[in-house]
Amino acid sequence: MVKNKLKKFSQINAFSNVVQPEIKFPESNTAYKGKWNSDFFRNDYPIILEIGCGKGEYTVGLARTYPEHNFIGIDIKGDRIWKGAKDALEEGIYNAAFLRIQAERINYFFEPNEVSGIWITFPDPQPRGSRMKKRLTSPQFLKRYQDILKPDSLIHLKTDNKELFEFTLDIIQAEGHMLIFSSYDLYNERKIPEPLLLDIQTYYENMYLDKGIPIKYLSFKLKTTEA
Ligand SMILES: C[S@@+](CC[C@H](N)C(=O)[O-])C[C@H]1O[C@@H](n2cnc3c(N)ncnc32)[C@H](O)[C@@H]1O
Repeated sequence: MVKNKLKKFSQINAFSNVVQPEIKFPESNTAYKGKWNSDFFRNDYPIILEIGCGKGEYTVGLARTYPEHNFIGIDIKGDRIWKGAKDALEEGIYNAAFLRIQAERINYFFEPNEVSGIWITFPDPQPRGSRMKKRLTSPQFLKRYQDILKPDSLIHLKTDNKELFEFTLDIIQAEGHMLIFSSYDLYNERKIPEPLLLDIQTYYENMYLDKGIPIKYLSFKLKTTEA
């Protein structure tokens, strides 16, 4: 098991579609900040992030479907990123990349207005109390997203966890963001805003579906802030 993980760690070092900063906790701007289009993807397509991407099913699946967008899966776990990165390379999907960082450090990697959308897929729910600020939809994280997203960008959340879902709905309302769509049971909705919501399933999603847990989904836009 450990040997297998080490093998994956050494392989992703050589993957051209994985960016792993040498410093785990950078305190200043990093190489691709503001240059993902010009220096990494070498195109002008919009950049969409998947945060806590795990094995990167959305990053790869969206990249396959939308060749005129770039997708970057972000996760701290290299052995998970390995799977998505390997699948993308083998399939020749060059508009998908992976960034191995703590999402708390996202502002050292992207400039204001560099990102055009965010997917958050089955994030760790994190218990109430002091760990709530680690929730990927906490006010602390929304502020980080606000600092890199273009105005009017969509943020998508897919989760099995009712508490996290309702926590996010409460924050959207309390902070004056704009809820676009929400469902407590996505697979039993009659009208779906984006067909890929049902077509792409993540590793964790499949586990919850097998257990019969309803999948919740919402999308929203952050309120615009005064310059
Ligand atoms: C429950 S898993 C879901 C993975 C994948 N999205 C899926 O649906 O199968 C949560 C993932 O988020 C990652 N994660 C949690 N907090 C993170 C953070 N602060 N920065 C980077 N990755 C994080 C974990 O490493 C893990 O891979």
